[in-house]
Amino acid sequence: MIKDLVIKNRSYRTYDRGAVIPREKLLEYIDTARLTPSAVNLQPILYLPLSDRDADRILPYTGWAKALDIKLPPEGKGPSAFVLLCIDREKTPNPAPVMRDIGIVAQTLLLSAVEDGYGGCMIGSFDAAKIKAELELGENIDILLCVALGKPDERVVLEELEKDAPTAYWRDGDNVHHVPKRKLEDIVINTGVSD
Ligand SMILES: Cc1cc2nc3c(=O)[nH]c(=O)nc-3n(C[C@H](O)[C@H](O)[C@H](O)COP(=O)(O)O)c2cc1C
Repeated sequence: MIKDLVIKNRSYRTYDRGAVIPREKLLEYIDTARLTPSAVNLQPILYLPLSDRDADRILPYTGWAKALDIKLPPEGKGPSAFVLLCIDREKTPNPAPVMRDIGIVAQTLLLSAVEDGYGGCMIGSFDAAKIKAELELGENIDILLCVALGKPDERVVLEELEKDAPTAYWRDGDNVHHVPKRKLEDIVINTGVSD
């Protein structure tokens, strides 16, 4: 069921680095992501798959769970792959509408990986200039989002959030990562209109 997959698809920040996702698998996930909706069907997103050692090269330029005061991923426990979601600035001078497409393809990549027993994390906090320099990317390529992928090696659990309580995630003494989610009744707008 899609809901089971969505529940399993947490943001993971500790991985079994020995379990490398092959490049062919990344291409398979990208092949699924490219079939998703796109505003005006422009499909401006370009995908840059990085596996194994290439993933290690950009890891230092990504930021993880900055709200927590711990080093994540722990040393040697980084993702074995990334897919960088990019645009060609010359062909897509206005990235604003692309930001809607980005979330759709990022989630599709993650769900594809989770279905395969992997997992990942969207990374919006990254040093684009350093990644571009490291990978020798062309001037015209803008990186909009990084999607980290790998074999998760930590426990993440969902919590029901009390109305208006802080949404911050936390880790307990056993290093279990807790993610509060707002309740259904707190997010549905009731207009008094019934079916
Ligand atoms: C667009 C986007 C950007 C994100 N950027 C980061 C990031 O830079 N670093 C990080 O550790 N997590 C990042 N996350 C993951 C969120 O922190 C995570 O989705 C949130 O804590 C809820 O956890 P969950 O994904 O397990 O539901 C990002 C998520 C989204 C949707």
